[in-house]
Amino acid sequence: MPTQDELKLLAAKRALDFIQPGMVVGLGSGSTATLFIKLLGEKVQQGLKIRGIASSEDSAKLGASLGIPVVGFTEATETDVTVDGADEVAPGLALIKGGGGKLLREKIVASASKKFIIVADSSKVVKKLGKFKLPIEVIPMAEPLVSERLRALGYPSSIRQAKDGSGNYITDEGNLILDCDPTQIDDPTALAAQLDTMVGVVEHGLFLGMADLVLVAGEDAITEYTP
Ligand code: 5RP
Repeated sequence: MPTQDELKLLAAKRALDFIQPGMVVGLGSGSTATLFIKLLGEKVQQGLKIRGIASSEDSAKLGASLGIPVVGFTEATETDVTVDGADEVAPGLALIKGGGGKLLREKIVASASKKFIIVADSSKVVKKLGKFKLPIEVIPMAEPLVSERLRALGYPSSIRQAKDGSGNYITDEGNLILDCDPTQIDDPTALAAQLDTMVGVVEHGLFLGMADLVLVAGEDAITEYTP
């Protein structure tokens, strides 16, 4: 039986089929997107001409180290294809993202993509979003207010900690991440609307109506989900 990492690699490999010479490619973040960037880097080293727009400092560094010309939105206003991972994929291609803390730039890059492709192993597919805690990026000084507002709505949250034990996790934009536990999200659209209007919230990990294609690698096959 393939491991989860082998399934992630299969999904990442399939996403390469969507890359054509001359494209601007959005580089996602997280372990599955990293596998894709490494495969793309190999193709670039073999002569494929593309440019990348990165969704995190980590992905920008990785892409550049592999020889992918990494540009910003001043050089290209949109990506032809963006390939990124997800923490949960629910019916309607509703996603939770941000497990790696990169959701703000990921959403910006996704919003500027002609085709937004998600690569995932089958463990990410759920009937309803919310088992994975919803990451919410907040302005540091507003954190106590946002935490309290979330609590009042019935959604307890905790400030994400850095893995190296150095304290709070700090995003690429210098903000905090609240991992929010709405237990299960019955109405993602309504929750997204509440979060969109909460002052102090910079962005949240609900990606609704954004994915054009989800490539899910399972034991026997890769399943393609479209909206
Ligand atoms: C990072 C993300 C990742 O794409 C998401 O967490 C999935 O990661 P992985 O491929 O490592 O399971 O949203 O902010």
